[in-house]
Amino acid sequence: MFNYFSVHWMFCVVCVGLLFDENLLDTIKYGIKCNYLNCLWLSLECEIEMLVTNKELMVNARKGGYGVGAFNVQNLESVKAIVEAAVEEKSPAILQITPSVIKYAGMGYITSIVKNAGDEVAVPLAMHLDHGEDYETAIKCVDAGFTSVMIDGSFLSFEENIAVSKRVVDYAHAKGVSVEAELGKLAGVEERSVEEKDAILTDPNTAVEFVEKTGIDTLAVAIGTSHGAYKFKSAAKLDLDRLKLINEKVSIPLVLHGSSSVPAWICEKATKYGATLDGAKGVAEDQLQQAIKLGIAKINIDTDLRLAFTATVREVLTNSTKEFDPRKILGPAKDAMKEVAKGKMRLFGSSGKA
Ligand code: G3H
Ligand code: 13P
Ligand code: ZN
Repeated sequence: MFNYFSVHWMFCVVCVGLLFDENLLDTIKYGIKCNYLNCLWLSLECEIEMLVTNKELMVNARKGGYGVGAFNVQNLESVKAIVEAAVEEKSPAILQITPSVIKYAGMGYITSIVKNAGDEVAVPLAMHLDHGEDYETAIKCVDAGFTSVMIDGSFLSFEENIAVSKRVVDYAHAKGVSVEAELGKLAGVEERSVEEKDAILTDPNTAVEFVEKTGIDTLAVAIGTSHGAYKFKSAAKLDLDRLKLINEKVSIPLVLHGSSSVPAWICEKATKYGATLDGAKGVAEDQLQQAIKLGIAKINIDTDLRLAFTATVREVLTNSTKEFDPRKILGPAKDAMKEVAKGKMRLFGSSGKA
């Protein structure tokens, strides 16, 4: 459900006229104050939308030909990193929370931090459940104020995946919350036969049936990415021909999980300060840009943020052995995470689109 609150705004007659201007309405929606406060006063009540849905962000992204970064957050520092990045880049952003983060941080703590961010900044943000494992989890998140939920039935049979996704859609849509579901399995496809790949990756025709029968808003596809820092053994290659076909057949915006690039410079920094990351490899940045051109509107990033954060924690602890104030350790780590997020926003083309 959208989070709304009512505020009294003071407008002069000129501003009331401007209210009929679509751009001004957008401005008000994101909470920027009226500048004409010196003339004839009128009191007006308007609703400020604080968090928006993934659907809204992704439909806009498709229209504008860019992608929206969906960044995994776990705590205050990661939320601040992404929100500061979005503000500095004037970019929309999706803050996503997994069930294991809900267990770690507590539903109330983590959702309050994200909702507070939505109240404070003038860029569109969504709060999304990432990899909701079952109906109950998804429903709990809808009720807790998430603006978007993922039901991940990719491990179920096709029929079971349809059934659970449809149930979540019925509940979530009634409350204005958008739904992402996944078809296919995120797994490395190197050294696999064509038959094996077909069994793992998203089939374009089946995707059409899945979208029609579930009524989902956005579809996560499997085209050769996987989660974590070890995605490929040799050349990192996505099945972009398959993505093109899916995009031609399916009209809703598409999602790419497992999109971290595992940049060499972050791995080198982490390794310099003691990490072991032999064989780490991610998705090449130009492949992500091609995927955006072929229908991907949401690009999921977790691993690169974690790597940047922990590499900096290692650096600070190594270089400042007398430091024990958590803020002096986590602050620079948050800033490193923010710089990575800003780089993704520029890469995906969402900078300046808020
Ligand atoms: O796909 C999601 C994350 O990268 C893994 O998340 O460790 O919070 O469950 P988690
Ligand atoms: P990475 O592990 O590539 O960052 O993927 C994150 C993800 O897909 C979260 O849902
Ligand atoms: Zn994922």
